[in-house]
Amino acid sequence: MTLPIIPDANAPSTGGRMAAVKEMAQLQRMLFEVEREFIRTATTLIYRVGDIDLKYLICQHVWESAGHARFLRERGRELSGFGKDDSVRESYSAIFEEAIRADDPLVALAGFYRVLKPALLAAYRHYLEATHHLADWPSRKLVEEFIIDEERHLDEIAKYLQDVEGEQWAQRLSIALSAIGGWLGERESIAAPSDFEWVSHTVPYQHLDTCNRGDFPISSSAYGYDPAQFPIVRSWLEDPDTDARVLRVMVYVWLMMELDAVDYLATIFYETAAAPFDMHYDLARHLWDESRHSAFGYRQLPKLGVDLTRLEHSLDLYNILVHMSPAERYAMMTMEFEAGSFGTKAQIMDKIRELNDFEADTLLAFDRNDEQQHVRYGHRWLPEIMRLFNVEGSVDAFVENTKSRFEELSKTYGGKTPHSLSAEDRFTGEKILKLVGLA
Ligand SMILES: [Fe+2]
Ligand SMILES: [Fe+2]
Repeated sequence: MTLPIIPDANAPSTGGRMAAVKEMAQLQRMLFEVEREFIRTATTLIYRVGDIDLKYLICQHVWESAGHARFLRERGRELSGFGKDDSVRESYSAIFEEAIRADDPLVALAGFYRVLKPALLAAYRHYLEATHHLADWPSRKLVEEFIIDEERHLDEIAKYLQDVEGEQWAQRLSIALSAIGGWLGERESIAAPSDFEWVSHTVPYQHLDTCNRGDFPISSSAYGYDPAQFPIVRSWLEDPDTDARVLRVMVYVWLMMELDAVDYLATIFYETAAAPFDMHYDLARHLWDESRHSAFGYRQLPKLGVDLTRLEHSLDLYNILVHMSPAERYAMMTMEFEAGSFGTKAQIMDKIRELNDFEADTLLAFDRNDEQQHVRYGHRWLPEIMRLFNVEGSVDAFVENTKSRFEELSKTYGGKTPHSLSAEDRFTGEKILKLVGLA
């Protein structure tokens, strides 16, 4: 029996015996590049938006997009003509570069979710129509799943965009996208008006000097030695006699504060456009893990009676690290903060088990497992990021150097965020004692 081939009128004709396969592989290649570029640029929204749940949601979408890209590449490579490298065509980068230039982060978000992502959904639907249901069944199964994800992404983000206008900005992105006829060239292309100006050609993109935490109170650090000032009292963390209920609250505050890792890790993607996709894939996972760790605290603390409007978010790590190179940021994160956290956390976990709080034990066990994985990512990718930034010398020497530079930069950029709340009003170690009935 001969299978009918459904020709795709818009795909470039590659000719020859494998033309049908090559055409579909090309479309998969294009979809891979769009997903990849979404990951690189939508991550810049994370530290710019102030709503905590929205930050978490973008991390989740970035992670799911990384999954789409990975499956597309895996399937694509089974087909003739997908290509061996991970590069992205200029016409796509140009549009994503433009999309992050909106000054208002919610207008930028709207551009992504009202124009670029719906166009991606349309592109996936086009793929299903263009391919043969039986011959290309393996791709079809993937694309059907991705369509469900993309529809859900649009649903999940909708409530954050309810009061956002930004029509003009969206219109600009639509014009840019129409000029290439949609992501797959599946629509008629309409040339941009002659006076269309790309903001990205004249305005360089820069990370914010500080991250946005919306209406939440902020300060430089949540860690300190004075229980009248800070929620995480360093000496209590180490002290074997600290009450397990106190430690439970403190470790949830610690976890929630990992939101700083979300914000500064999110800065690395944009600056490492030349990285292999596998690196961005692991970074996307790392990012989503940190957002879940932060959510552990964010969801559990109110259940323990903590008023989150009294808990200051610590900004120092972002504020200092954003002045370092991506290689330095990643080195501090994986080789210093993460690698150095296991001892203290182990003691805390042992103590908390006294409480027979199954959920706390579970969250901490998964956190520990994730963190071990993050240190492995560090060993794998730090040398690669060093190469991207032409850092010479050994990894160990670089890490040592970076730690001293961090100390130096802390003097300039650290400790500059005043407490939003007075010591009486803010959540502190002393308040924890009261909360658990010890004071
Ligand atoms: Fe974490
Ligand atoms: Fe981590």
